[in-house]
Amino acid sequence: MKVKGFLKDVGGASRVTKMRKELIANGSPLPDPKDPIRELADLLHPGRQQFRVTEIRKASPTATTYRFSPVNGHVPVFQSGQYANFYLTVGGSVLTRAYSISSAPYEARLAEPFFEVTIRHNVHYLVPDWFLENVKVGTEITAALPFGQFHYEPLRDSDHIVGIAGGSGITPFASMAKEIAHGRLDIDLTIIYGSVKHTDIVCGDELEEARKAAPDRIHIVHVMSDDDEWDGEKGFVTEEIIRKHSPEGASYFFCGPPVMFFLVDKIMKEMGVPLKRFRHDATAQPAVTMIPGFPMDQAGKSYKITIMRGIHADVIDAAADEPVAVALERAAIPIDTHCRGGECGYCRTQLLEGDIFVSPLNDGRRAMDKELGWFHACSAYPVSDLKIKIPII
Ligand code: FES
Repeated sequence: MKVKGFLKDVGGASRVTKMRKELIANGSPLPDPKDPIRELADLLHPGRQQFRVTEIRKASPTATTYRFSPVNGHVPVFQSGQYANFYLTVGGSVLTRAYSISSAPYEARLAEPFFEVTIRHNVHYLVPDWFLENVKVGTEITAALPFGQFHYEPLRDSDHIVGIAGGSGITPFASMAKEIAHGRLDIDLTIIYGSVKHTDIVCGDELEEARKAAPDRIHIVHVMSDDDEWDGEKGFVTEEIIRKHSPEGASYFFCGPPVMFFLVDKIMKEMGVPLKRFRHDATAQPAVTMIPGFPMDQAGKSYKITIMRGIHADVIDAAADEPVAVALERAAIPIDTHCRGGECGYCRTQLLEGDIFVSPLNDGRRAMDKELGWFHACSAYPVSDLKIKIPII
């Protein structure tokens, strides 16, 4: 740095202060539309967007893939394993539901960009039948993406991921497999996929196509729990099967039904897999009676929740075995939710009075929030009458 001299420096500094004051006085209160940082932020996280359904196809006899193309603009950049959040008007209430993206990130960068989700029907906790009955080619729907930490992160994960999946939990791994096959994700992937019968396999053709395109990088092990015709691995996904197909030092990712999560979680502990090497998808929650620590004498009870929104108060009924967020949605009281698994904090709510049970499996609260009585309504259950405060949306 060249020092011009004391007087010149003092003079320069005072001119800068004057110029700064003038710029502030004459500046627009609106954000600069040409701000490149803002443009990048909008590109990555544009918030809620309208998408049009451009294709619907079967992913198995009981699962359907929906393709969404942007009505305007683009599909935001996402990583395999992340999810999209849909805003659905169901029975007069606006519900939000999260679904893992089953298409690959490169498909969102094509000349006609899209993303896809694959939904299994008759899974009571994710309103999938609403999709089946109401969403047709041409339907427009509001969604926001991407969200979630269930993706490969080179600073954290091994470059060989063992994906353990059950049912429609295969979708994030289908996305990873397609991205690897396209040469856009530089990892090896072993998928251990549990189904009841081979006819239940979701995204089977796409998985096989990806495997054939990158046979050295993608390995798929199907495990059938009840299929006499199957001559591969049979039974449940066991420690023996996982050990047999795992390389040394792999990172384990799990996505599947809650009951399978408990099994896999136990196996991971028995195998001594470090916590940072075991990740599970946050979008599926078990029934509260399966969550360790839930006071079983609460099952079947119901309570009153007083909800404060500004100065407005509502009182609703809530069951002890369903999350506070679900009770609000049933009462058509809007609450913003994304992951519905305690991770993202969008449903952050203030507890003014009463007691809640917070799932230890999905307790994503910050330490300070715990101290100050904030909780995540999607993963907390009333165990007394409550008084809570939620933001007006
Ligand atoms: S919706 Fe993500 S923490 Fe509740």
